[in-house]
Amino acid sequence: MTEQRVALVTGSSAGIGAAVARRLSRAGYRVAVNSARSPEAGLELARSLPDAFYVQADIAEEHAARHLVEQVVDHYGRLDVLVNNAGTTRFIPHADLAAATPKVWREIFDVNVIGTWQVTVAAVPHLRASGDGAVVTVSSIAGSRPAGSSIPYAVSKAALEHLTRLLASTLGPEIRVNAVAPGLIDTAWTEPLTGPREQVAALAPLRRIGTVDDVAAAVLGLIDSRYTTGSVLLADGGAHLR
Ligand SMILES: NC(=O)c1ccc[n+]([C@@H]2O[C@H](COP(=O)([O-])OP(=O)(O)OC[C@H]3O[C@@H](n4cnc5c(N)ncnc54)[C@H](OP(=O)(O)O)[C@@H]3O)[C@@H](O)[C@H]2O)c1
Repeated sequence: MTEQRVALVTGSSAGIGAAVARRLSRAGYRVAVNSARSPEAGLELARSLPDAFYVQADIAEEHAARHLVEQVVDHYGRLDVLVNNAGTTRFIPHADLAAATPKVWREIFDVNVIGTWQVTVAAVPHLRASGDGAVVTVSSIAGSRPAGSSIPYAVSKAALEHLTRLLASTLGPEIRVNAVAPGLIDTAWTEPLTGPREQVAALAPLRRIGTVDDVAAAVLGLIDSRYTTGSVLLADGGAHLR
């Protein structure tokens, strides 16, 4: 019997990450759930999935990011899939340039870009050993369009999309590296955005905002797409066409 594959989903105590963890579990993966500040929710999700495991770690911290991957590999003995989902933002109107201070830029980049980098670097030897390693990073439509909660957030997602191409080019053939760029998704982050929610539902070709499960389906699709690497898949109901 072949051993069950193992996936680590960063930032999976809530929202998109939790939906990805559930879907991976349904697809037969053993899943490592992670968050920085919500251990109760993370533990509860891990308890609800067969053979899942929770690790509390802030991916922005160098030692914690490395230790996260070590704990997963110590627990399961392997790592086949990494989903870089953990992310943070600040809501700052793009025209308010002064509000996007260096402190804001550093806080967002520390998690979204450097945190993702640190976890990925720690995971690479194990993904390579898997023989069919895959990385999927959760970007945003803000990474390629003049949109999003703030300019530093949008630029951090643009950085992740180019990182996806650079890593795909570097890590093949053993590891495939792709990204999903969601549009407006129904999560706690976007709950207060009544105006943009109505706008997307009225204008996007698919006439609704997205669900966390829509994004999870795109992530799973990329993990299973064995001739695809270096791609960014938009999951935005076609909103980019408007
Ligand atoms: N919602 C949208 O409309 C939307 C659209 C495009 C892209 N995205 C992207 O999708 C991803 C998930 O967003 P979401 O809306 O699902 O957010 P969410 O519901 O707030 O969930 C974010 C998750 O990441 C964890 N997290 C945050 N900072 C972390 C850190 N430093 N280390 C480890 N875990 C951390 C959070 O847990 P703790 O805070 O408790 O640690 C939580 O589990 C993000 O990368 C976001 O940029 C979201």
